[in-house]
Amino acid sequence: MKYRVGFCQFQPEFLAKEKNLEKIANMVNNAKADLLVFPELATSGYSFAHISEVAQIAEPFQKGLTSIVLKKAAWENKCSIVVGFAESDNDKFYNSSMLINPDGSSYLYRKIHLFYHEKKFFSPGDTGFKVYPAKHDVKIGMMVCFDWIFPESARTLMLNGAQIIAHPANLVLPWCQQAMLTRALENRVFTITSNRNGYENNQGVSNDFTGLSQITNAKGERLLQANQTEEFTGIIEIETEDADNKSITEFNNLITDRREEFYHS
Ligand code: ACM
Repeated sequence: MKYRVGFCQFQPEFLAKEKNLEKIANMVNNAKADLLVFPELATSGYSFAHISEVAQIAEPFQKGLTSIVLKKAAWENKCSIVVGFAESDNDKFYNSSMLINPDGSSYLYRKIHLFYHEKKFFSPGDTGFKVYPAKHDVKIGMMVCFDWIFPESARTLMLNGAQIIAHPANLVLPWCQQAMLTRALENRVFTITSNRNGYENNQGVSNDFTGLSQITNAKGERLLQANQTEEFTGIIEIETEDADNKSITEFNNLITDRREEFYHS
């Protein structure tokens, strides 16, 4: 199926949730895509100094402002949206992403591999690497930023049937964009890494984000990339079935050639 997919690389304003959501909704309105992926913590920014800041903007998955605003945008634009947000559930906070579909369905992923100071504020994710239907039943797997360094993240999503890996990010290390070509190649899946750009400094907690958001095809080729510093919406048309063929040669297949009995330490 021909499917218009994209990323929206931008610079959220720290703790300005309503303003960021308005900007995200505007980007959805202008994009004309079937699937749009936004960065990690796109509604809040990233450089938390105190847990009280997380508490100020964290929200429940389906009843929070992000769900309400973006369900409307998804429905009005017939666009599936993946967005990173700070989630509150009981007494815990998660660095989460949600998939919101035009039909009003929505699905949650909680970041499993927390990076650096995130461990001071968020609980490790407990939702697993599940795969969910987006618009036209295309199979979407979500992982967030630092999950990239664990090949098991993308591998599990592929084994669960993902055709596209939606990858909201706030990258600060220089290796991910290159590594994601390999994640795509070794799993024969499309990947959309939606990173943020810009520098953020909050009370001495500072981060320089690497931009370079990208889309890869299922052969591990980069189809489109943003630059390092500027806001940019990148959209491309893909053929989703390209992710369904796991044959490498006539005699080799990514799934059936696996030797699981040797993969445990
Ligand atoms: C990261 O996981 N935000 C680097």
